[in-house]
Amino acid sequence: MNIWKRKDLVALSDLSVEELQFLLETARAFKGVGERDLKKVPALRGKTLINFFVEPSTRTRTSFELSALRLSADVINISASTSSLTKGETLKDTARNLEALLADIIVLRHSSAGAARFLADRLQSSIINAGDGAHEHPTQGLLDGFTILEKFGHLQGLEVAIVGDILFSRVARSNIHLLIKLGANVTAVGPSTLVPREFEALGVKVRHRIEDILESADVINLLRIQHERQHKQYFPGLNEYVSLFGLTKDRVAQLKPDCLIMHPGPLNRGIEVDSDVADGSRSVILEQVTNGLAVRMAVLYACAGGKGIVT
Ligand code: CP
Repeated sequence: MNIWKRKDLVALSDLSVEELQFLLETARAFKGVGERDLKKVPALRGKTLINFFVEPSTRTRTSFELSALRLSADVINISASTSSLTKGETLKDTARNLEALLADIIVLRHSSAGAARFLADRLQSSIINAGDGAHEHPTQGLLDGFTILEKFGHLQGLEVAIVGDILFSRVARSNIHLLIKLGANVTAVGPSTLVPREFEALGVKVRHRIEDILESADVINLLRIQHERQHKQYFPGLNEYVSLFGLTKDRVAQLKPDCLIMHPGPLNRGIEVDSDVADGSRSVILEQVTNGLAVRMAVLYACAGGKGIVT
C-alpha cells in the first residue's frame, strides 16, 4: 500500500515511521533497477525536474540528476551564479518562474535553513530539500540509514556515533531524526562548543571524548568541520581537533570488528579521518554515494505520485 501522500520532502523530522520505512523499502526496489544492464524505468516519463543549487555540491546534485534520468524524467540544472539571483531576483520569484516553466519537481539546495519549507508552502511544484543551511539534508539521512540497513538488516538497538561538527550539520540532524525513529541509539561526539547538551532534547547521548564510543559503536558517521557556517573560532585549532577527535588507525584498532565507518562527504583527509581509514575495509563511504541513487529515485517517485512498491 502507498502510504505516501506528500508532494514535498523537506525534513525527516516531518515523517512518520511508516513514511520512512516506505521510502527505504521503495529505495531497495530501485537499487535492483540500478543493478540491471538497462538502468532505466519509465516511472517519471513526461515529468520535468529542475535541480536548483544555490550552494556547491558534487554528490547530491549529480545523484539527483542521474536518479531523475533513470526514472525517465527530463532534467535541467541551474546554479546560483548563472541564475538571475545575481541580479537581485528573490528566491520566491525565481522558483515561481521555474514553476511557470512547468517544473514538476524542484530540488533545492540553499544556505538558509527553512528555504525549502518556504517554497514548499508557496508552490504547486514538488520541492525536495537537498540541504538547507544547518537544518536538514533528508536524502542524506535516508541514504545513510539505507546503507546501515543493508549491512545489519535492522536499525533497532544499533549504537550509532555521529562524530564532529554536529552544531552546523544538517546531515547530523537528518540522521538523528531517522535513526531515533527507527530504533537506533545515537551518540553525538565532539567538542562541547560543537556538540552542546541541547542535542539531548532530540533523544541522543552527548559525549566529548571519542574514546567513550570506540568499543561500543556499531557505526561511526564522521562529519567534517563546516567552516563555511562558522563565523567564530569553535576550537583552538585543527591539530588539536585531529588529536582529540580524528579517526586514526590507532583508534580504529579499538573498534568492534564489524563497525562501519561512514562519511557523507566531502571528506577532509587527515582531519576527521585518516586517509588509510577512509579507504580501508570498514569504510562504506562510496557505497553511501551509490545508495544515494536508489534513495533519490524513491523520493522522486514518491513525491511525483508514484503508486506502490516498484517491482
Ligand atoms: N553529502 C553531500 O551533500 O555532498 P555534496 O555537498 O557534494 O552534495
